[in-house]
Parts: sequence; C-alpha cells; structure tokens
Amino acid sequence: MTFGNKLRFYLNGTSVEIDNPDPDTTLLNYVRSIGLTGTKLGCGEGGCGACTIMISSYNQTLDKISHISANACLTPLCSIDGKHIITIEGIGNVKNPHPIQERLALLHGSQCGFCTPGVVMSLYSLLRNNPNPSEEEAEECFDGNLCRCTGYRPILDTAKTFACVENNDPYKNHEPQEYVGCGKVDCCKLNNVDTTFNHNFSQIQFKKYDATQELIFPPSLMKYAPGPLHFHSSKTKWFRPVNLDQLLLLKTEYPNATLVSGNTRVGIETKFENIKHDVQIYVGDIPELKSWEFKEDGLSLGANMTIARVQDVLKEACNYYKPHQIQIFEALSENLKRFATNQIRNISTLAGNIIDNSSTSDLIPLLLSSESIFSLSSLQSTLKKSRPVPSVSFWTGYNQDCRASSEILESIFIPCSNHGQYVRAYKQSKRHYGDRAIVNAVLSISLDHNSQVQKACFAFGGMNRAVVRAPNAENFVEGKKWGDENVLEQLIEVLCEEFQLSFSVIGGMATYRKTLIIGFINKFWYDVTKSANIAALSPDIENSIGEIKRSISKGSQTIGRPEEGNKIVGKAISHESAIKQTTGQAVYIDDMPRIEGELCGVFVTSQKPHAKILNIDPTQALNIPGVKGFFSSKDVPGKNSWGIFIEDEEIFASKEVFYVGQIIGLIVAETKKIAQEAKDLVKIEYEELPYILTIEEAIEQNSYYPMTPQLAQGDIEKGFKEVDHIFEGEARSGAQEHFYMETNAAFIIPKEEEEFEVHSGTQNPTQTQRNIAEALGIAANKVTCRVKRVGGAFGGKEIKSLLISMGLAIGAWHLKKPIRCVLDRNEDMIITGQRHPFLGRWKIGLTKDGKILACELKFYLNGGGTSDVSKEVAQVAIFASDASYYIPNVRFIGYPCKTNIHSNTAFRGFGQPQALFIVETMLNDVAERMGINANELREKNLYMEGQKTPYNQKLENWCLPSVYQQVKETSEFEKRKKEIEEFNSNNKWRKRGIALLPIKYGVSYSALFMNQAGALVHIYLDGSVLISHGGVEMGQGLHTKMLQIASEALDVPINTVHLMEYATNLVINSSPTSGSLGSDLNGNAVHNACKILAERLKPYREKMPDKSFGEIVKAAYHDRVNLSANGFYKAPDIGYDIHKNEGQLFLYYTTGAACSEVEIDTLTGDHTILRTDICMDIGRSLNYAIDVGQIEGGFIQGVGWCTNEQTLHFPNGNLYTTGPEKYKIPGARDIPQDFRIYTYKGAKSSNIKSIHSSKGIGEPPLLLGNTVFFAIREAIKAARKCNNNNAPVVLRLPATPERIRIACDDEIVRKCKVEKKDGEVPWVIET
Ligand SMILES: Cc1cc2nc3c(=O)[nH]c(=O)nc-3n(C[C@H](O)[C@H](O)[C@H](O)COP(=O)(O)OP(=O)(O)OC[C@H]3O[C@@H](n4cnc5c(N)ncnc54)[C@H](O)[C@@H]3O)c2cc1C
Ligand code: FES
Ligand code: FES
Repeated sequence: MTFGNKLRFYLNGTSVEIDNPDPDTTLLNYVRSIGLTGTKLGCGEGGCGACTIMISSYNQTLDKISHISANACLTPLCSIDGKHIITIEGIGNVKNPHPIQERLALLHGSQCGFCTPGVVMSLYSLLRNNPNPSEEEAEECFDGNLCRCTGYRPILDTAKTFACVENNDPYKNHEPQEYVGCGKVDCCKLNNVDTTFNHNFSQIQFKKYDATQELIFPPSLMKYAPGPLHFHSSKTKWFRPVNLDQLLLLKTEYPNATLVSGNTRVGIETKFENIKHDVQIYVGDIPELKSWEFKEDGLSLGANMTIARVQDVLKEACNYYKPHQIQIFEALSENLKRFATNQIRNISTLAGNIIDNSSTSDLIPLLLSSESIFSLSSLQSTLKKSRPVPSVSFWTGYNQDCRASSEILESIFIPCSNHGQYVRAYKQSKRHYGDRAIVNAVLSISLDHNSQVQKACFAFGGMNRAVVRAPNAENFVEGKKWGDENVLEQLIEVLCEEFQLSFSVIGGMATYRKTLIIGFINKFWYDVTKSANIAALSPDIENSIGEIKRSISKGSQTIGRPEEGNKIVGKAISHESAIKQTTGQAVYIDDMPRIEGELCGVFVTSQKPHAKILNIDPTQALNIPGVKGFFSSKDVPGKNSWGIFIEDEEIFASKEVFYVGQIIGLIVAETKKIAQEAKDLVKIEYEELPYILTIEEAIEQNSYYPMTPQLAQGDIEKGFKEVDHIFEGEARSGAQEHFYMETNAAFIIPKEEEEFEVHSGTQNPTQTQRNIAEALGIAANKVTCRVKRVGGAFGGKEIKSLLISMGLAIGAWHLKKPIRCVLDRNEDMIITGQRHPFLGRWKIGLTKDGKILACELKFYLNGGGTSDVSKEVAQVAIFASDASYYIPNVRFIGYPCKTNIHSNTAFRGFGQPQALFIVETMLNDVAERMGINANELREKNLYMEGQKTPYNQKLENWCLPSVYQQVKETSEFEKRKKEIEEFNSNNKWRKRGIALLPIKYGVSYSALFMNQAGALVHIYLDGSVLISHGGVEMGQGLHTKMLQIASEALDVPINTVHLMEYATNLVINSSPTSGSLGSDLNGNAVHNACKILAERLKPYREKMPDKSFGEIVKAAYHDRVNLSANGFYKAPDIGYDIHKNEGQLFLYYTTGAACSEVEIDTLTGDHTILRTDICMDIGRSLNYAIDVGQIEGGFIQGVGWCTNEQTLHFPNGNLYTTGPEKYKIPGARDIPQDFRIYTYKGAKSSNIKSIHSSKGIGEPPLLLGNTVFFAIREAIKAARKCNNNNAPVVLRLPATPERIRIACDDEIVRKCKVEKKDGEVPWVIET
C-alpha cells in the first residue's frame, strides 16, 4: 500500500494542501491558528457548540452532497481530507453578512457574542440541508449550542424567520417557498400575525434569504479520488485507509492501533484522560463501513455509520418493513433523537459507541434487548475472515469485549420485530436534551394471542458499570399474563431485588436510579397493555405513559413605554457589536493576533483540599523542550498576599493550600500544549491536613470567617410574644457555576522597563491594574489594563480574574516576554469559585390572620478556602431578607463558613437569589402548616407605599403591589390554578404546579465609595466622537446604552459616536462593572462629560445653525475650545451606616413579579416549563430590547440555578462537575414553552434619580427563576396529595430530576429506598 502524505481539503471555498499535518491537531486549533478565530473554544469536549463549523462532503456513489454541523474541537484535522469546511468567516462578514448573521443581530440574539458563531453555524448547516425547515426543526438545530446570556428566545425567533409553518408536518412534501417581506413566514405582510406573540419593537426589514446564493461545493472535490494517507509526528502515527482491505491489512500490521471514527470518545480520552493513542487508523472514509442493507429479516448497518445517518436509515426502514416488523427500529429511532446533540450525532458512529461500552450508552440497551448480531472481521493470511457474535456475548467485562486485536467491527445486524413483540426505549437524564442518560432502558416482550409473555428482554443502562440485562425479571415475567396487575406488582418486586445498589455506588443517586427502573416498567406495562389491546387504560394513566413532550416555543415582549419621544435613548437598537459577533469578527483575548516572542502560561494548582506544602520541584517540567520557566511564591517581586476585603489570599500558595484548584505556580512555555504537559510534571509534596467541605460540617466544627454581618429592627422578643403561631424550619440551596462562555483569560505584554500592558477579560480593570502593580512592586501608573469585550462574566470575572492576571504578570516580569493564558473550561471551573451555597434557618411569628410580626433568620454560606466577598454576599443577603414583605421585628445574621472547597465569589444577584429562596420557602412552609394559601399570605404582608424596611429605608413611589397584581391578572393565575387542579386529578403520574412571586431589588453598592464613575469624551475635528467610560462590556449592552446617551446628549447621530475599549489610562479608578449599576453610574458620567462639551459647543451651534457638526467642531477648535471632557458622577442621597442603622442604603428599587407553570413526570422526575409571565418595572428604559434580553437571560440563568445546575464534589475535595458533560446549564429547549415579558407601565419613573430615570436590570430577573422552583414544589405537593401524603415538602435547591422524583415520596420511592450503611460515604456530595 502506498500512502500519500498530503492533506487536501477546501476551506471556505479555497483549496488547502498541508504536508504531513500533526495527527494531534484538531480542526479547531488549525482554523484558529491561521487567523479564523470566529470559531471559538468553549469547552473542548463537544458540550457547548461554540466551535461549530460545517463539513460538506460528496458521496460519489450516491452523487449526493451532504452538509453536517460538527464540533471542530473534536474533529481531527487529519480527518477532513477531500471535504469542504465552512467556518463562520466563510458565510458573511460585517459588510455583507449572511441573512442568518444579519437577522440574529437585528433580533437581539447576540449579547456577549461568544456562543454566537456556533449558533449561526448550526442554523446555517440546517438551512444548507433544508432551506425550508419546520419550526420544530429550526428549534431542534440548537440542541448542541449553549448560550449563557440570551435565554435563547431571540435565537429561536431568528431561526423561525427561516422556518415554514406549513412544513411543521414532517411528512409533507416540502416545496421551496418564496419568502415575502421580512422573511418570516408569518410576516405581517402576509396579514396573519398573532399580535399577542409579537414584540412591540419596530418592524425590521431583513435581507431576503436565497438558498441558491450559498457557497457551492467545490467541483474539483467532486472528482477527487481519495487514496490511503499516512501522517506522523514524533508522538503519533495516523493512517487513513480508503477501503476495508486496506484497513484490515493495517490492523494486522498494527494490532494495537486505535481506530478513529468520529473521535468523540478517542478525543476525550486523549485530552482529558491522558490516554495515549500512538497509532491511529481513521476509518471514517471507508465506504464498506458506512453502507447498509434492508435484509429480509432485519437491518444490516455498517459499523461506522454515523448516528445521524442511522436515524435517516431507520426512518426509511419504518416505511420499508411491515408494521409488526418495525418495533425495534421505531424504539431505536425514538431513542436516538435524544442521543447527544446534532453536532455529535453527525460524526459519532455506531462502532464507536459499541466499543466505548459506556454504561449509559443509548445504543447498547437496544442492541442487547434486540439480540442484535455483530460482525467482526480480520485478515487471516491475506483473506478477510468474518465471524458473527451475538450482542449478548460481545462484551466480556468492564471495558472488555471479545475482539481479537486484529479484528474490527464491520457491521451490525438488528433483527426485525415479530408479531406480538413490543419494544420501547426510555431515557432519563439531568437535562432533557443534549445530555447522557442517568438511567435508560430498552424493554421488549413478545406476547402470544392470550397476552401471555413468550419472551422478555429488559436491558438497562446506568445501573452498573456496563449496560445490563435483567435475567431474573425476564424469567419471572415469561409465561405470565401481561395486563394482570398482580404480575406487575411482583415484577416490580423482582426488579427491586435484582438491582441492588449501595448508597455509595459509583454515579451516586442509588434510590433514584432504582425508582427510574420501576418508573420505566410502569410506563412500559401500561403502554403495551394499551397497544396490545389487552385492556383499556384509565385516562389518568394513559396520559402519563409517554415522556413529557415540548411544543414549539413562543415568546412575547410587551414593552411599556417604547421610545418615549426620545431621539435615541429608549430606542430598541441592536447591541453595538452584534454584527461583529454574528460574523465572528468580534475579538476576544484568545483571538488577538499573536505577537513576536509570545509565550503561554498554564497554572499549577493544588490537588489537595487542605495541606501544608512541603516541597515544590519543577525540575522535570523545566527539562521539557519549549518550557521557559516556572514561577511560584518565592518569585513574586512585590506582594504575594492579596484579598478584596481581607488579605487572606496568595497569588501563589506558599506554605499551605486551602482548596483543590488553588494556584501554586505558573508554567510558561512556547505553546499551551507544552505548558500543559509540563504542568503535570511539577512535583509537589504535601502534608495533608483535615478538611471541611460542606456548610453542615463547618457549623459542626465552628469554622467561620471572622465576620458575621447582622441587622436587627424592632423588638424581636416582644414580636414573638405577640403572635399566635411560631414556626421554625430551614432551607438549603446549592452552588452555581458562572459558566460564562469565554473562560477567564489574560494577556500581559511587558513594555519599556517597568511598563505593562494588560489585556484581561475582567469586570474589574482598575483592581487588576492595582493588584498587578502591588504584585510586581511597581506603581499603578506603570500598568495599563485594557478590556475590549468579555464573553460573559456574571460576577465570575470580578475578583477571580485577578488571579490569572497577577500570576501571568509575575511570569512576564521575569521573562520579559508577553504571556497569554486562556483557561480551559475544566481549569476555570476548578480554580475560580462559584455562587455561594446557602443554608437558611428561620423562626417566624404570625398572628392567626397571617400577619408576620417577627422573623429571625440565620444564613450560613459556604465561603470556601478564602474569604473573597463572602462577608459582603452575606450582608447583601441580609439586606434582602425582608424579600417583598413588611416585618416589623427582625433579626438577620449571616455566617460565612470557612471550608476547603474553591473560594466562592460574586455571582449575579450576589446573595439575593439565595435570600429570596429561603424567605419564600419559609412562607410556603408556614402557609402549608397553617393551612392557608401561600399567595394570600404573601399579599397580606406585601410592602405598601411609605412602609420602612429593616434598614430604615422608606418605600416611595412603590409600585410592587401593582406589578404583582398585573402579573396575577395577565397570567390568569387564579383561573389557571383551578385548571391545574383539574389536570392533576385527571393524570396519575403527571402533575402541574404554578407559582407567583414578587421581587424587590435594591440598587446601589452598600460600600458608598463604589457608587462613583468617570468618563472621557473626545470630539475630533471631523465631528466624530470617541467615548470612554469606567464600565466593561460583557454582553449586557452597556456600551450600546452609553453610545445612545452620548449621542442624545451631544445631539449627534449615533453612528458618529464610537467606543473603543475600557482602559485604565483613559478612565481611572473605576468601580467593577457589577451590581446592575453599570448603566447608571457610567451613563451619568458619560452624560456629564457630553453635557460639558455640548455646553462648550452651544455658542457655535447657535451661531451656525445650518452647519454640520464637523464644521461647528472645527470652528470651536480654531477658537481654542477644549474638545475633550472628563465626566464624573457620584450617586446622590445614599450613605447607610449599618452600625447605626441610619441613612439611605439604596438609590431606588427595581421591582418585578413572575408566574411560572410547570409539568412534572412523577415517575421520572422530568419537568418542563409550560409558561412564564414576567413583569418588571424598569423605569424609562435606555434600550428596551437590551433590557428585555437581560430579563430573559437573567431569568433563564435563575431557572438553571433552581433546576438542573448542580455542583458536586467528590468526598476527597475534588470537583466532579468540571465541564458541560457533568454540569448542565439550560439549553434552548429548557426555556418556558410560552415566555411572556411585560415591562410595567404605571411607574412614576421621573422620580428616579438615575440616568434618564432608567433602572438597573442586570440582576433582578435572575431571582424570578425561583418561580419555577416553587411551581415544581406545588406539582410535587399535588403528587403527594394523591397518595394522601400531606407532610410538608422538603425540597433542596436545585430541584433536579432526582430530587423531584424522591420528593414525590410515593410507594415506589419507599420501596426503592437505599439506606446508608455505617461508614458508607456518598459517591459525590453537594457542599
Ligand atoms: C458531547 C457528547 C455527548 C454524548 N452524548 C451521548 C449520548 O447522549 N448517548 C450516548 O450513548 N453516547 C453519547 N456520547 C458518546 C458518543 O456517542 C460515543 O462516544 C460515540 O458514539 C463514539 O463514536 P465515535 O465514532 O466518535 O468513536 P471514536 O471516538 O472515533 O472511537 C471510539 C472507540 O471505538 C473504536 N472503533 C471505532 N470504530 C471501530 C470499528 N469499526 N471497529 C472496532 N473499533 C472501532 C475506536 O478504536 C475507539 O476505541 C456523547 C459524546 C460526547 C462527546
Ligand atoms: S468547544 Fe467544542 S463543543 Fe465546546
Ligand atoms: S451571547 Fe450567548 S453566551 Fe453570550
């Protein structure tokens, strides 16, 4: 066999040839290395979609071009020979954007923009295959794209402008459609607009989408005849055979070679599990392994068919075979819909999944229960030999199968089902879409004409280290009569016996996993009973046997006061960088061009939760070629210790480490790959010390930071004496990972002598400047920190970003070279801290008619290994502890716990979401115990105009009661409550719940000095304006609002005003951008500067009324008028003294209310949000579209915190949830199916002393995610009521499927309960 060593492919329409490419290079690394930086690295594990590109290929046999979306982070560069790769840059640019890019920008679908190129490419791939998708297809194409900012609604809306409502019927023959007007099928020009579900923003004219204008498949590639290839590096050999014979020959020659197909398993092993694959044989271009055949008795599938291709073939098979033959194919087809994501299904293969043999494989249960047959092939003295192996005998143990080393899997035969056979597949995961199973099952039975079971095959995933059958249950049921309830009861007993999980079982969730098995069996039992016409089902059961289905989502945005007659302020204009972001041209730190001599930094971190450092030895690491240095505490030229309020942190840990992930040193090398390799070779000797992980352990061991903020008002003892009822209880919330899409990053460039230019993805540039100066022992004026844009932050880049910049600066100081570091997702999650978990203990006193007179609240929050802002978070939580209710006598105390997990930090809401959750849980509990309605209790105690808060702030212009009332009415809360009762009584295992909550959110920093901002505005002689201010753009639209303010204040067109970046040498001593204060503080400063300039120009404007602004400016210049002004602002009126409980704490409140309705499946714990109505009082918005984006995005982030996002640690202190595979933020199909946003119309906003009477909106909507939690709680209550279980619901936040299921506390849960034995430790814990 002769091998070529040139890789040939097309990239964005241009031919590329590479000699002997490095087999270890991914497509993502390659495209980014040649400057196509629109494709982003978000996780490197196929879980976020930021790296989505499109791969087109031509099938000569079928004469067909196919287009697939794929994750470039998992695609080996060497695998793309003969293909056409299209990246975001290939489809449009700022001057000529693709219609997708334009519409996503105009419809406000891009905030920080980091996810945006991936989002665009997913939709683009869909349209290239199908220019007229149905609305459902348009929604589904994003199952592999995460967005942390937008809440997805505008992304889905954008996709739907390309969808044909008519094509929602997938079986209809799709004719190409002529788009009219905006391109949306229900465009108003077609007169069929449902105004309820249309936003009130101006009608937008989109560019027309014409599928015929797309980039063509290169004709020369159609003629390309692929031949065998061989590439190699010093570490890896790569072979690409093009037929089966060549493959078998290679496998004989290299029996230990790893076959690579989609690389979705091998890629993960290489990157995250340190497994070496020295010889790799790529099997993705072998036609024999991708062919299929409809045989008489079943389907033969080539082993390396992709999952997506198998889905297509299964659809055909369901039409080809007779109805009784397709049971297995239908079940598999249904199952594969929830297999991974579009991008993964497009490249991962059957063989890869089978060989991977994961216990949660979605494929293997079906192959086992259908008794499929695998064909293994090898070369035996030049002849191909194949042997069939039944699936049941293929796997021989954990990670073992029966293949000889020279054998490959060639094909899989899946038999047709027989008369009387029924097959169903089930899957339960943490997130409904784009997630692996917790438990899955394929259940099959064959019945005779008397409904007697002839044969049963039950296969379960997630119950053991591999997928397993349940022989005892199968044997038990064989010969029994299906439909006989006694048989079901006994079958459940047998299954419970058969699956004995211990409390400490790998994967955890022992009780839950057992309940899922029983849940699936119940569903299967009744489904078959109905399908086989054994008995009619009662409607309450019939409705519950399938899985929760989601309809196409719809959203409406009803805005209160659009535009208010202002020229620019108040207009719903798009994010100023939107088009740059949608075209991939927006630059983030990792996208900045490399500069001469640049090096890469990687941090060496603690592996122990608490230990003394005995020795650090970097010798081996330093011996690796390309490593330039290792730096630790002894190398810090200035101060190693730092801290925001207490100096208890070190840049590099010197003597002791306090958490896993604490930074000990920095490796600097020529490339990231070398630095990461070297990092693992730094030897650290520890002396392990006792450690504390959870709040409960900290309380037990009295481990607190020495600061316990408290607030008291009234006479609490007297209050408790005057009440009729006193209740006590507690509530517990978990952590939340920020999961900004751009990880923490910094780039430090040493300049002349001691000058440093710092590019940091930080919310806190001034502190970055100050801390670097202190670390280096130089003056702050030598350090300039610049921030162009940040790919999402949410509080996670306020303090923790400093760790990265300071560490790198020390390396740059010593080496005098530029150093860049972009944390990998897992590094970021391990190092940088999260939202604080809270435990709230409460005691409350009420009169018999429900008036709250006294409340004592104690908050315990898990601060982690250093204090960071834990005290401040506790303090803010205390100020929020009244929630929306007047309580005359209170005592609130916060205890920041000192533990040995990552140091927890600021996160959107800063303690308020936790406080709200605890207080509202208290109210629900109390209402349940008093037997009264929780919302009546809320309404009775809701703050009224003129009442005072515990910190003595009088509530003026108070509109919360009417905001609450508005949501109550628009959501038809009372009516729907009745409908829900009706629904619940008609459904045995489906329950609905609804919750309505008010929120108030005080806006101001409690540290008075932080309530200030500066700005600098220059007017150039051509009339163009450059503004700079102290805020950072991280997706929230701050710069857009600042441009609007400047444009209006100077009375110039907005397109003549520009904002380049934030830099500490332009605007000094800025506060961090946080606390929903960015627009107000900086907006006022910008306004101030512009007004100074406008005043200076006034005489010229009056003198030259007909002249252009440029001419006016020139005239002023010639008169030596200063055309540059510095603006400054300090918030008025505020100044609170906590010791005296005097002075005004907040400038104003942002208030709101929301109502959410959910449906849960009580057999699985699954849930969906049916509808959410949110009303926010946002004053006179600076930009309604941006504010709606904050409301939707904040709410969905809150929903994530309340439902799926669960941070887990191993008992040894290591973080378990280190990436998107294990930590699930909401996806596009987790948002409310019906999502309605209103802004409040009735507020007297002119009284608000904020910029243009607008209100801060970044954080408050997150609190409303709590409505989903409490709606779930109501649904659980309904489920328990059916079982006469009226005990109060104890539900910890987040309400994961596991917790929902267990909280239903029915007979199945009790039967499946796995008790903890003495000495047993859980597999993972929540801290
Ligand atoms: C983000 C993400 C989400 C996922 N979600 C799911 C999910 O929901 N459900 C699920 O079941 N799985 C899921 N997976 C797992 C994934 O489906 C499997 O890893 C995949 O099917 C492997 O296929 P591949 O072609 O990429 O295999 P590769 O990584 O290319 O190879 C995997 C193994 O198979 C071997 N191999 C490949 N072809 C052959 C052959 N012909 N003969 C012998 N050996 C061969 C390789 O040598 C290697 O050992 C997910 C993976 C990722 C990354
Ligand atoms: S970077 Fe590829 S999926 Fe996240
Ligand atoms: S806009 Fe999607 S992650 Fe920021």
